[in-house]
Amino acid sequence: MDLIEGLRSTGAVREFTDQPVADEVLARVLDTARFAPSGANAQAWRVVVVKDPAARARLRDLYLPGWVEYLTLSSAGLRPWSPVNDRAAEAAALATGTDQARNAAKQGFAAHLDEVPVLLAVFADLTQLAAVDRDLDRYSLAGGASVYPFAWSVLLAARAEGLGGVLTTMLIREEDEVKRLLGAKGPLVLAAVIALGHPVHHQPRRLTRQPVESFTTVDRVDGPAFPG
Ligand SMILES: Cc1cc2nc3c(=O)[nH]c(=O)nc-3n(C[C@H](O)[C@H](O)[C@H](O)COP(=O)(O)O)c2cc1C
Repeated sequence: MDLIEGLRSTGAVREFTDQPVADEVLARVLDTARFAPSGANAQAWRVVVVKDPAARARLRDLYLPGWVEYLTLSSAGLRPWSPVNDRAAEAAALATGTDQARNAAKQGFAAHLDEVPVLLAVFADLTQLAAVDRDLDRYSLAGGASVYPFAWSVLLAARAEGLGGVLTTMLIREEDEVKRLLGAKGPLVLAAVIALGHPVHHQPRRLTRQPVESFTTVDRVDGPAFPG
């Protein structure tokens, strides 16, 4: 597949057919994704292919409360879990109206997470991350940048195999439990859980994204839009 076309049309896929994904295919996907960049080329990712049905069911159960919260916060007009959110506003939103979200969460991807053909838990080894912003007096972002390109490469390489998928971070909220479940110790932290499989709906599809000039400016953030 043409690279540009792939980059422009690889969207989140959350509905999969029952067709399994062979281990050889998944191995090829990971073998391509490992060429992703990382700070100091540390390649600090660790991947667990979660096959055990009981572990999968536990991941689903751990995922669902986060999804209910996401729906509740979204419907209250908040960006769920923004680091700069007013925590009191979040708490107030969560204190009301979760019933509707709970019902909505009973259907769809979250409720069927355990049935997804491939579930990959991606951990990051903190001892290997160059988190250059770790000492700033703000939310730290840079460390994840050494792992998420790998996760995205997994999705792109999967696409080339005719698969679709989605990168999820919801389970990070339950990191301690996920670590215990999957035997991840100490400095291994959960970066993502990636779902993969054969898409129900045909790809490519048209993605909704902001135009370049809405997020790009010249010389200063308040400079003229680029391209002009
Ligand atoms: C860092 C990150 C975290 C995400 N977390 C979740 C998640 O927890 N659950 C989920 O269903 N999708 C998750 N997504 C997928 C996004 O919702 C999706 O990429 C976005 O809405 C664009 O969707 P589209 O490709 O269908 O247009 C995440 C994506 C990224 C990049």
